[in-house]
Amino acid sequence: MRIGIIGAGKVGTAFGLFLKDQGEAIAGYASRTHDSALKAAELTHSEAFRNPLDLICEADLVFLTVVDDQIEVVAQDLAEALSLLETQKSGKKKELLSPESLKRPIFVHMSGAHSRDALAPLSLAGFETATLHPLVSVSEVQRARDAFGKALFSAEVESGGGFEAWLVNLGIPFVRLEAGSKALYHAGAVFASNFVVTLMDTAVQLFKEVGFSEKEAIKGLLPLVYGSLDNVARSGTAEALTGPVARGDVATVEKHLKALEAFSEVLGLYKTLSAATLTLAERDKLKVKPDAAAELANLLNEEDTKGEG
Ligand SMILES: NC(=O)c1ccc[n+]([C@@H]2O[C@H](COP(=O)([O-])OP(=O)(O)OC[C@H]3O[C@@H](n4cnc5c(N)ncnc54)[C@H](OP(=O)(O)O)[C@@H]3O)[C@@H](O)[C@H]2O)c1
Repeated sequence: MRIGIIGAGKVGTAFGLFLKDQGEAIAGYASRTHDSALKAAELTHSEAFRNPLDLICEADLVFLTVVDDQIEVVAQDLAEALSLLETQKSGKKKELLSPESLKRPIFVHMSGAHSRDALAPLSLAGFETATLHPLVSVSEVQRARDAFGKALFSAEVESGGGFEAWLVNLGIPFVRLEAGSKALYHAGAVFASNFVVTLMDTAVQLFKEVGFSEKEAIKGLLPLVYGSLDNVARSGTAEALTGPVARGDVATVEKHLKALEAFSEVLGLYKTLSAATLTLAERDKLKVKPDAAAELANLLNEEDTKGEG
């Protein structure tokens, strides 16, 4: 299939490079600014199109990698423009595109939070639509290009459709999502990606309170993070859990709560995460220590009540 990409930003450029690495033919790019399209086209040895319709005429599969709030707008504009083009071509009154008159590319957006509904104008115009979301944080194009090769994707696809077949042929691993589950799925990804950064920042700020520089704090904390993730990779979340809650060490949690009293925002976060950690620990490590689990639950509830009063 020849690939067209509308939205020559980080994901559009990196995914184009990844697909080129997989041997796919990249027809080219269109974007809000021609400069972005030119840059991405140069990197992927493809073409920059000023008019997205010209790109669509060259493509069998079109990825919309525009910012989330533009997906629906672009889908609507494309559906209208394609319909108009068909009207002009046929010289007849406005009708849906027919297979004989124009290529009928598949349209796919790559947002994690938005569902396939964002492409409704194109679906209604008779085009196959889908979504494909990489579980990759894309902040730098070349790194993301490589990361796509190791990533698991999620997809909303038409069963037996051309896009599903393309994914399978290319060996892109994906989990099929049902309509309506995108927001919950994306919230999960936010926990694993954005919130890990927020948690790191919280830890760094506390370390700075006791005299670490930011650089020292990050250097010291990173092996802890990598070690925890390595444990999760090897044995799953419940078994990987360590620390005072997992051990049922009530006295240490008490000390933490006391020390954090001066940092009310962090204290709230600590309590919320401790409660979630307790639930996780009760699945495995604390199963054999029900008394400690009950004491921890009381301590966290008691502190909550104090906070509210
Ligand atoms: N970044 C991530 O970690 C990540 C991960 C997975 C999925 N995604 C999804 O990937 C999509 C793109 O995200 P991104 O991070 O690549 O954003 P980005 O770097 O900001 O790129 C978005 C691109 O869309 C173009 N654009 C905006 N409005 C447009 C319009 N009306 N018509 C044509 N082009 C338009 C912009 O073009 P100009 O440069 O020409 O202005 C920009 O280059 C989003 O749906 C996002 O949710 C992102």
